[in-house]
Amino acid sequence: MDHATQVRLTREVLAHLDARTTALAPDIMYQATAAYDSPERLRQEKDILFRKYPLLMGLSGQLRGPGDFLTDDFSGVPIVVVRDGDGVVRAFLNVCQHRGARVAQGCGNTGRVFTCPYHAWSFDLTGKLVGIPHGSNFEGMDKDHRGLVELPAVERDGLIWVVPTPNANAKLDIDAHLAGLGPELANYGLAGYHHHETRIMHRKLNWKIVIDTFLEPYHFAFLHADTVGPIFFPNLCLFEAFGPHLRETLPRRTIETLRAKPEAEWDLIPHTALVYVLFPNTVLVMQGDHVETWRVFPNADKVGECVMYLDFFVPEPAETESARRHWDRNMDLTIRTVDEEDFPVGEGIQSGIAAKAQSEMVFGRNEPALAHFERSVTEAVTAGQ
Ligand code: FES
Ligand SMILES: [Fe+2]
Repeated sequence: MDHATQVRLTREVLAHLDARTTALAPDIMYQATAAYDSPERLRQEKDILFRKYPLLMGLSGQLRGPGDFLTDDFSGVPIVVVRDGDGVVRAFLNVCQHRGARVAQGCGNTGRVFTCPYHAWSFDLTGKLVGIPHGSNFEGMDKDHRGLVELPAVERDGLIWVVPTPNANAKLDIDAHLAGLGPELANYGLAGYHHHETRIMHRKLNWKIVIDTFLEPYHFAFLHADTVGPIFFPNLCLFEAFGPHLRETLPRRTIETLRAKPEAEWDLIPHTALVYVLFPNTVLVMQGDHVETWRVFPNADKVGECVMYLDFFVPEPAETESARRHWDRNMDLTIRTVDEEDFPVGEGIQSGIAAKAQSEMVFGRNEPALAHFERSVTEAVTAGQ
């Protein structure tokens, strides 16, 4: 985030504090609960959002050198992402072109080739089929057409994006997709961050309700009274849309200290949590001293269940015991807040919806980011039919 934007947002926060106000949506929004428990709606979301949109697969720090790879099945498509010998990030369907076994498992470094565990066909880091044991049995087969199937992928400013549908002719135009948010993300220098830890969580709530929990501080003073509530101002946020994406600014109480400093010295980052929705399914949080990404997916065809990755990225590798302890404590507070407070409430909401207890819920004008996210999902699904 550039300094001019930091000054603008800081001024807005301080003005809201003085006036005891918050950013407002133009109207109250009524949201049909069917969005969270209709199997048909989930099918549309999977076909459109989780097949056609660029999904964040990780940060560059997870694939530092040639041969570093990660796998990801949660979009419903088995994907392997790798840094090739020229340093280019590529993505493939994680499907062997012999009989379809997964060529890569988990994450790590694969060396110069992926070797399928079934019959040991091997593929180089550009996906080319380069080795077949007892190859004479396949004489006459066109090896050039048995390479791994490539997916559109791009690495930009430390973020790795993949579209989970093969399309040899498609160029992934991430700048257009980010709708003006790209330069702000670039400014954070995310390529320099180091991966600290990943947690994978399965929970019994619709994937969108997970994202909703990040999108308003209206609940902070109540639900989070003993965890993060006291760090922030309750019911005070800023909101800005970038196409379907968004930035929600959550000021920490320490922001008041900026009043005593000249604007030229204002640094907003340590005094906020900056929550971005990278549409459709990633929440990226700039936490002042570290970065969290929450990548949330439907759990197969179960409309009331989700699976998510929480990844922690830190500015320096945690090489000492005290550094590790510091980040572990941070991770614990994050997990305790979200997993012991937000998600149990979300699971309660999901079971209420399943019981058809209400047909719509209501988003107040003080929940503009939430309204924007849910409206963007509905619009994308409607437009993609
Ligand atoms: S399925 Fe991969 S080598 Fe046979
Ligand atoms: Fe919360």
